[in-house]
Amino acid sequence: MNITNKTVLVTGANRGIGQALVNEALRRGAKRVYAAARSPQPNADKRVTPLTLDVTRVAQIQPAAAEVETLDILINNAGVANYDDLTNLDAMEAHLAVNLFGTWNVTRAFLPLLTRSKGAIVNNLSLVSLAALPVIPAYSISKAAAFNMTQSLRALLAGQGVTVHAVVLGPVDTDMNRGFDIPKASPESAARNIFDGLEKGEEDIFPDPASLSIAEGWRAGVVKTLERQFAAFVPQNAANAG
Ligand SMILES: NC(=O)c1ccc[n+]([C@@H]2O[C@H](COP(=O)([O-])OP(=O)(O)OC[C@H]3O[C@@H](n4cnc5c(N)ncnc54)[C@H](OP(=O)(O)O)[C@@H]3O)[C@@H](O)[C@H]2O)c1
Repeated sequence: MNITNKTVLVTGANRGIGQALVNEALRRGAKRVYAAARSPQPNADKRVTPLTLDVTRVAQIQPAAAEVETLDILINNAGVANYDDLTNLDAMEAHLAVNLFGTWNVTRAFLPLLTRSKGAIVNNLSLVSLAALPVIPAYSISKAAAFNMTQSLRALLAGQGVTVHAVVLGPVDTDMNRGFDIPKASPESAARNIFDGLEKGEEDIFPDPASLSIAEGWRAGVVKTLERQFAAFVPQNAANAG
């Protein structure tokens, strides 16, 4: 999908990868960019509409959706990551609330607009969706669940012309992993590669050097093969149901 003249909504748009995605969408000629955030900030570019959106607050999601007339691309980017050791239910719930249920609730609210435009859903996930990073297990679980949900949505929405993309991010230099001393991609390069992947129609997008190193193996691997086999069980009439 080409970004020029499209309408894009990014959650968690006030910093990090979300902010870079807003800037990159504008650079590629997006018609309108909804920059959704818990504390939205004004933007000098008139094509940007700030939206107040805490993805865990269901009461905020529907009013935010009502402010949007048309939408081609929803980017579920908002996320939290904190260290834990799987001894604390609160840590698990806090990660699931944003990274899984937040993504699900926002997707459901904007789906009628995306169905109408035959648009795209882009979920910012992680290498730890594919294998747990045991220093952040609750985060890993939430991103694995969100990846799994992405696979189901992809199959369920295909009949309605909505494409669903998983972004498998490796380390990117943002507040999220500030304390992790490893090579990191810049948010700007990740944003460019996410839109490149979307424009090329890639289901799974690997936007940085660390994630790109597994892309070929992933695409030819047994898990991808299984995903396709399982997707074939979705009845065509269910896939087409509005
Ligand atoms: N950086 C990495 O290395 C990396 C790697 C893999 C995946 N990712 C994923 O990429 C996405 C962006 O991460 P980032 O690195 O840009 O992180 P970041 O710099 O920490 O930014 C996180 C963003 O999510 C927002 N957010 C958190 N909770 C929210 C909520 N309840 N409602 C709405 N927005 C909320 C934050 O808003 P506030 O400013 O209001 O807190 C902020 O805009 C996340 O989904 C993350 O899991 C990042």
